[in-house]
Amino acid sequence: MTGIIEQLEDSRERARMGGGQKRIDAQHAKGKLTARERINLLLDDGSFEEWDMFKEHRCHDFGMQDNIIPGDGVVIGYGRIHGRPVFVFSQDFTVLGGSLSETHAEKICKVMDQAMRNGVPIIGINDSGGARIQEGVASLGGYAEVFQRNAMASGVVPQISLIMGPCAGGAVYSPAITDFIFMVEGSSYMFVTGPDVVKTVTHETVTHEELGGASTHTRQSGVAHKSYSDDVSALMGVRALMAYLPQSNREEPPRLETSDPVDRPAPALGRIIPANPNAPYDMKEIIGHIIDEDSFFEIHPDYAANIITGFAHIDGRPVAVIANQPMVLAGCLDINSSRKAARFVRFADAFNIPILTLVDVPGFMPGTAQENGGIISHGAKLLYAYSEATVPKVTVIVRKAYGGAYDVMASKHLRGDVNYAWPSAEIAVMGPEGAARIIFRSDADDPEALAQRTEEYRQKFANPFVAASRGFIDDVIMPQNTRRRVARAFTLLEGKELENPWRKHDNLPL
Ligand code: HXC
Repeated sequence: MTGIIEQLEDSRERARMGGGQKRIDAQHAKGKLTARERINLLLDDGSFEEWDMFKEHRCHDFGMQDNIIPGDGVVIGYGRIHGRPVFVFSQDFTVLGGSLSETHAEKICKVMDQAMRNGVPIIGINDSGGARIQEGVASLGGYAEVFQRNAMASGVVPQISLIMGPCAGGAVYSPAITDFIFMVEGSSYMFVTGPDVVKTVTHETVTHEELGGASTHTRQSGVAHKSYSDDVSALMGVRALMAYLPQSNREEPPRLETSDPVDRPAPALGRIIPANPNAPYDMKEIIGHIIDEDSFFEIHPDYAANIITGFAHIDGRPVAVIANQPMVLAGCLDINSSRKAARFVRFADAFNIPILTLVDVPGFMPGTAQENGGIISHGAKLLYAYSEATVPKVTVIVRKAYGGAYDVMASKHLRGDVNYAWPSAEIAVMGPEGAARIIFRSDADDPEALAQRTEEYRQKFANPFVAASRGFIDDVIMPQNTRRRVARAFTLLEGKELENPWRKHDNLPL
């Protein structure tokens, strides 16, 4: 018995050392934490229970029979975040570069299966050179097993990916299916093929950072949702995110105690919209006054900034906020902002998180770049996402709601539950200048007549009253009362019941 316990302790110690002190030191020298250090920071103190610490690979090719490290390059198990269970896997770069063997994949699949069965989120910490080259097709099969589970878990349990090192080849597709990807600046990369392959195939010279660094993916491709300066802040970012999410699609998101009074008036809201209807202002100021103090957790802050997406609390209740940002491209909807917001709306709807939409949108972005890039299909994604969403939807039009973009942004017609407008709202097919030029074309060469026609159109439509007279707007509310009115609406909608018709699955315009 004593022998077995000693053997157990010995195996545990070997597993904990991963690829050895030299490689651990090399990991630290790059500013990276080890797989276990990351898990300990991510989870509530002392809550981690490790599984499969002794699992080993079965490969006998290329000398691999002499290169066996218990655990095989990935640490798995479960623990708690804010007292609620989560499953976790963390790849150990010190063991064969965190590469994915058949065994390594089996371990990831084990926690994914358990997460699904128990309705618990799964968090993956990725730091891997991709498929274990010595194992060939066995490791490719392992990846596919993981992908299959990612697809089945989508919309059932939240799936979060941290990218904390290189992620090449197959290592990027599993995170790509998950709900949120957070990267670390300067030490994490995601690419399907690395710079060497790029050079061989396209003769293009490119650095790791340019091809797939945190800045590339959070600003240009939109593949990643957020980046952090180091491992610790990225792990804290995931902890912060988890406060807004339910455990699964079978649960409501957790409600917090808040000390911010729900009926707090916000007089500053009445002073944000500029007198000039074309002048920009920061929509984030409006969001800040409506939600519980300091509760905004922005998603995709650096990508398609003409639309804002993020989680917040209102009266302690998690909500998903989608808002046009007049400071960037006048808040127009374009390809990237439509894709960004559509995926966010679908996440919120899948996980029972009510949606607050703040509207100030002059329309879809015109031009050949957008049309040739497929704005029709991409814009339709957002339209589709709002249309199919059955969670409570509260909308406030604060200024412009023009054209198709009026329809798209959670309008009454797309089953908006409570739709308000501020007195500054302008709800029309297009802006007064453009409208007058088209319907009074005969006056186009007479600036005075055109100005008069523009003013006529402005008087008629540049206000919330026509929409309100149709019932498309439930009420015109004073800006300073918005927090109270929105919070009341979400309380009302707690019992909302709405179901879409049965179908095998939908066919949204991908
Ligand atoms: C086995 C690997 C490995 C891999 C790295 N290692 N990647 N072992 N299979 N895929 C090992 C190295 O041999 C080395 O072992 C240790 O991990 C650290 O690697 P280094 O190269 O020394 O580290 P670094 O310089 O930081 O470079 C990291 C790296 C590079 C950028 C990830 O190792 C790399 O380019 N690896 C290959 C990436 C790749 O092409 N993967 C296959 C993708 S194909 P020692 O013993 O020296 O410490 C794929 C198909 C799936 O994934 C498709 C599914 C759709």
